Amino acid sequence: MSTHGSLAHIGVVGLAVMGSNIARNLAHHGHRVAVFNRSHGKTEALIADHGHEGEFLPAQTIDEFVASLERPRRALIMVQAGAATDAVIEQLADRMDDGDIIIDGGNSLYTDTIRREKAMAARGLHFVGAGISGGEEGALNGPAIMPGGPAESYKHVGPLLESIAAVVDGTPCCTHIGPDGAGHFVKMVHNGIEYADMQVIGEAYHLLRYAAGMEPDAIARVFKKWNTGDLNSYLVEITAEVLAQKDAATGKPLVDVIVDAAGQKGTGRWTVKAALDLGIPVTGIGEAVFARALSGDLAQRRATVGNLPAGTLPGEVINSDKDRFIEDVRRALYASKLVAYAQGFDEIKAGSEEYGWNVDPRDLATIWRGGCIIRATFLNRITEAYDSDPGLASLLLDPYFNGEMTELVDSWRRVVVTATRMGLPIPVFASSLSYYDGLRAERLPACLIQGQRDYFGAHTYRRTDKDGSFHTLWNDDRREVEA
Ligand code: ATR
Repeated sequence: MSTHGSLAHIGVVGLAVMGSNIARNLAHHGHRVAVFNRSHGKTEALIADHGHEGEFLPAQTIDEFVASLERPRRALIMVQAGAATDAVIEQLADRMDDGDIIIDGGNSLYTDTIRREKAMAARGLHFVGAGISGGEEGALNGPAIMPGGPAESYKHVGPLLESIAAVVDGTPCCTHIGPDGAGHFVKMVHNGIEYADMQVIGEAYHLLRYAAGMEPDAIARVFKKWNTGDLNSYLVEITAEVLAQKDAATGKPLVDVIVDAAGQKGTGRWTVKAALDLGIPVTGIGEAVFARALSGDLAQRRATVGNLPAGTLPGEVINSDKDRFIEDVRRALYASKLVAYAQGFDEIKAGSEEYGWNVDPRDLATIWRGGCIIRATFLNRITEAYDSDPGLASLLLDPYFNGEMTELVDSWRRVVVTATRMGLPIPVFASSLSYYDGLRAERLPACLIQGQRDYFGAHTYRRTDKDGSFHTLWNDDRREVEA
C-alpha cells in the first residue's frame, strides 16, 4: 500500500465482494484507488488482505474519500441497488463540484438511472450508470462493462473502465452504450438473456436425464463436447463442471443433493416487465423467469406432485437411438437460445427507440464476448449479422442464422414432441418454437381476436382488402359500417 500525498485517479464506494474486487482490479492496472465503505471494517480488511497489490488510499469518512480524488473526481459506487445507492449518490453529490463524475456500477433499474442522471445533471455533475457483468471473478480479472451517461463523461471514465475490462481479440469489453439509462437497460436485458440461456441448458439436461435416462457424469461429458462446437460458451462450460461434481458427504452427484428451487435477484423480472411495457415478446426470458418462480413455490409443488394426471400416452423409448436424441436436444437448445437472443436484441432496439438512446447492437455483441456470464463464441456471429445489416428485422433473418435454423428446426420439433409425450416440462424449448412458428405464420388467429374485440367492445378492425377501420353491427342487422 502506498499512501503518499498524490490524489487518487478514481475512488470506489462500497467494498463488499463486487466493490473490493473492482477496486483491486483498478489497482492491478496501475490506478491509484481511493476506497471507502460505510462500515470501516471492510476497508480495513481490503487493505490488510490486498493492500500490497497496488496503490490504495483508504478513507475513514466520505469527506476524506472525496478529498482524496483528483479532478474531475471519479467515484464508482458499488453498493446495493435502490435506496442505498440513492443515499450514497446524495452524500457524494453534496461534496462534489461541477464536472465531477459519479459512476453507479450496481445493478440499478434503468428508470432509476434516468432519474438520477437528470438530478445530477441539474447539479452540474455527470452521472454514469454502468452495467457490470461477470460476477466476482469478472470484477477482479476483467468484467464486461456497459456504461451509459453523457458522451462527454465517457472521455473521463472510458479509458479507466476499458483498462479493467475483459479483452477479446484485442478489443476491450467496454464501450459507451448511450445516454442516461442505456447502460443499465442493456445490462438488464443481458441478465434476462442469461436467465433464458441457463434455462435452456437446464431443459437440455432434464431431457438427457429423464427422457434418455443418462447419469449426470455422462451428461457432463455431453456438455463438454458441446462446448467445442456452436454452443461454446461460459455457461455450457460451467454446466459440465457442475454436473461432474460429486457431493463429498454422500458421494452422490452434487446436482442430486441441491434443492431444485431456483433463486432470483430480480433483473430477469425487470427485463420482462420492461418488455411488457414496450410490447416486445421476450417469451424465452419470460418463461425462464416463470420457470424459476414455479420451481421456487415448494408448498404448491408439494401439493401438486403426484396429484395431477399425466395422461395415458405411452412414452417414447429413447434407447434405440440415443445419439440421435442427444444431437436433437443439442439442436433444440441452440435454436431456443437463438430465439432468446433475437428477442433480447428486439427489446434493446425497442428500448433504444423509446428513450432515444441510439444503442448500436454491434457494440453489445462485441462487449458480451468476454467477461460476462453470457460470453459465447456465437456472439461473434451476432456482430457479423448486424455488421452486414444494421437494420435487421430479426436476428433470425440473418443469412447465417437462417441457414442454421434450416438445420435445427426438425430436431427442435422432434424434441418438443418427445418431451410433451413424456410429460417433461420444457417451457423455453416449447414456447420458443411457438414464437418461431408465429413469426413464420402467414395468418395468425389475431383476426379472430379482432372480430371478438369488435363484437363485445366495438373496437373495430381493419380489412385485408381495403384501407380504413370497420365495425360490424353485431347486435343489429350485422351490416358492416366504416368506423
Ligand atoms: P454484494 O452483493 O457485492 O455483497 P451488496 O449487497 O450489493 O454487495 O452491497 C453491500 C454494500 O453496500 C456494502 O458495502 C454495504 O456497506 P456496509 O458494509 O457498511 O454494510 C453497502 N451499503 C448498503 N447500504 C448502504 C447505505 N445505506 N449507505 C452506504 N453503503 C451501504
